[in-house]
Amino acid sequence: MKIGVIGLGIMGSGIAQVSATAGHDVITTDVSKQIYDRAIVSIGKSIDKLTEKKVITEKKESILSRIKFTDNYSDFSDCEIIIEAVVENINMKKEIYAKVEPYLKNDAILASNTSSISITSLAATTKRPEKFIGIHFFNPVPLMNLVELIKGLRTSEEIIQKSIDYVRTLKKEYVVVNDSPGFVTTRIIVMLVNEGAFEYAEGLASKEDIDKALKFGGNFPMGPLTLGDLIGLDTVVNIMDTLYESFKDPKYRAAPILRKMVEAGKLGKKSGEGFYKY
Ligand code: NAI
Repeated sequence: MKIGVIGLGIMGSGIAQVSATAGHDVITTDVSKQIYDRAIVSIGKSIDKLTEKKVITEKKESILSRIKFTDNYSDFSDCEIIIEAVVENINMKKEIYAKVEPYLKNDAILASNTSSISITSLAATTKRPEKFIGIHFFNPVPLMNLVELIKGLRTSEEIIQKSIDYVRTLKKEYVVVNDSPGFVTTRIIVMLVNEGAFEYAEGLASKEDIDKALKFGGNFPMGPLTLGDLIGLDTVVNIMDTLYESFKDPKYRAAPILRKMVEAGKLGKKSGEGFYKY
């Protein structure tokens, strides 16, 4: 298959990596070629680690050669699936769809990796909502085994089936879920991070102890603050805001400390500092 990936941040680079590893040709874009160059370096490091663990046997150079960059949306015209993974902002996503849509071939799938925005509302901004779906990967993409496939109200059965076929090539598990902001997974995951941030701001315990308590007491692989740093605190705030606006329920109020940290540029692992320093 030929896969398009728009946005090469944490998620887009992971999606490009697993798609290329599965043998697909991948064409990518971002706001500058420098971001692609940076993504290729981090993808290379991830492949090195997976090679050490014998998860990957193909040569790194050969996998990387399948990931190309373009700054021209017409280069997505021969893609079977185009996955958008730009920042969690509905207007930005809409702009991208308007740019890429004129070039898509008739049966191409346009997908969003959004972690919270309604797929039906994103689809409605396109001219072919029946060919729009949520293909939601988890962070870090090469290690996380689930892909959540989200059906918009108008997503066709054929598009769902083709998306399942693609996910199977990646050898990942999948669930197909109905559309609702935050879907099945994110709605719960961000609440954990948000509640951990409230606990920290209230001085309930040190950040290390909050994480330790949930890690060992809840059998989570990591505590909520470490998880927030991994997801990106800006992404967490954007998702909380989406849930708050969508459900109009105060339980989705973003912890003020998260917003303050984002304003200060403390975005988590990707910026070098969040709750912890990296
Ligand atoms: P990120 O901030 O790491 O990357 C976003 C990328 O989009 C950046 O490289 C940015 O330069 C690029 N971008 C911005 N405007 C663009 C444009 N006009 N054209 C092309 N590229 C553009 O964000 P991240 O974390 O990769 O998130 C991307 C999407 O994936 C969001 O919708 C997020 O909600 C979702 N997601 C994030 C997860 C996470 O743990 N971070 C998990 C699952 C989904």
